[in-house]
Amino acid sequence: MPDRAARLNNLPVYFFAVIAQRIQAMQAQGIDVISLDIGSPDLPPPLAVIDALSNSAHEATTHGYSGYRGIPAFREAVARYYKKRFEVVLNPEKEVLPLLGSKEGIVNLSLAYLDRGDLALVPDISYPSYSMGARLAGGDVHWLPMSRETGFLLDVLSVPDAIADRAKLMWVNYPNNPTGATAELDFYQTVVDWSNKHDILLASDNPYVDVTYDGYKASSVLEAKNAKNCAIEFMSFSKTFNMGGWRLGAAVGNADVIKTLLQVKSNVDSGHFRPIYDAGIVALDSTPRSWIDERNTVYQRRRDRILETLPYIGLQAQKPKGSLYIWGCVEDGDGDKYVNQTLDQAHVAFAPGSAYGSGGGKYIRISLGISDDRLEIALQRLRDWYPNRKDSN
Ligand SMILES: Cc1ncc(COP(=O)(O)O)c(C=O)c1O
Repeated sequence: MPDRAARLNNLPVYFFAVIAQRIQAMQAQGIDVISLDIGSPDLPPPLAVIDALSNSAHEATTHGYSGYRGIPAFREAVARYYKKRFEVVLNPEKEVLPLLGSKEGIVNLSLAYLDRGDLALVPDISYPSYSMGARLAGGDVHWLPMSRETGFLLDVLSVPDAIADRAKLMWVNYPNNPTGATAELDFYQTVVDWSNKHDILLASDNPYVDVTYDGYKASSVLEAKNAKNCAIEFMSFSKTFNMGGWRLGAAVGNADVIKTLLQVKSNVDSGHFRPIYDAGIVALDSTPRSWIDERNTVYQRRRDRILETLPYIGLQAQKPKGSLYIWGCVEDGDGDKYVNQTLDQAHVAFAPGSAYGSGGGKYIRISLGISDDRLEIALQRLRDWYPNRKDSN
């Protein structure tokens, strides 16, 4: 075989693919591993959404290609959702683009804007696709520090002008994966003003905007003044409506960016299966807020059960107001060792903080996407394991 492309040398194998293989190997030996590593909702989508998929799939006319920009009715439903949820007005023709899951759009945005040597600003604890997309495009990454002391909020005003003026693209994500941090509108306003000043494309990745606790309501970057001059937001059905496997999302915001992203996408994919769009419309238009609130109550209960247990298993964490995760700080500061030990000795899988960047080494990420009964078994195993843990790596 010929050599593979050199650009892959900068691209590690996706962490979750590696851990999934390890878990599968353990399961093949008959070991019951409990996975608290994956950020995938365990509960089903609203029934009306499944019915809409099925009804649409039974139509004879829904099986052809459905267009590079999806169907107009879907784009209009996204615009209605932004108006209702955030008071943000979007032009469905120019400011909304359906995605095959937001991950696809995140990586394609880097391909659309970064040439070799172009700079992307990426939080040093973040969802890996921001930096991987930049590397795949041949771009450079400048890491923005995130720390517990500042609530894991980025401080853009401390970025040197020389870096800011070179940067083309910047990523923000609140409610945050993996830290669970949240950001208020004044944060978004600061970042929008700063991005406009330095001519940076601001990408807000917002899949957890409707996964929040204790009555907290998260914002969209597009609520900030002049946001559409510089910003685009990624929305996802995966976490809001428990539809991770459906691969449905959208990019919304600056019309030029939407057009440029479409230029990449229309050369790469041919849009979604029409019934998925039809079901997405029902999810956006017909899911009562009470459905989302009830689902969030389930996560909140799990969050609190885990937080109660942390002092007994060598972890500390702040109480997250949003996202699907608890970001546990490991007592001896070695997140990788902790994850290896819990997997080998207690058969409980976590994601090591180091998978999210160099700032994450002391942490592990615990997912709330696990059934209550499995979670209880996992917590009991961890409580039994911790006082008797064997010191291996
Ligand atoms: C921060 C963040 N962005 C994007 C995604 C990708 O979501 P999607 O399923 O829409 O591709 C995830 C998935 O876990 C995520 O945590």
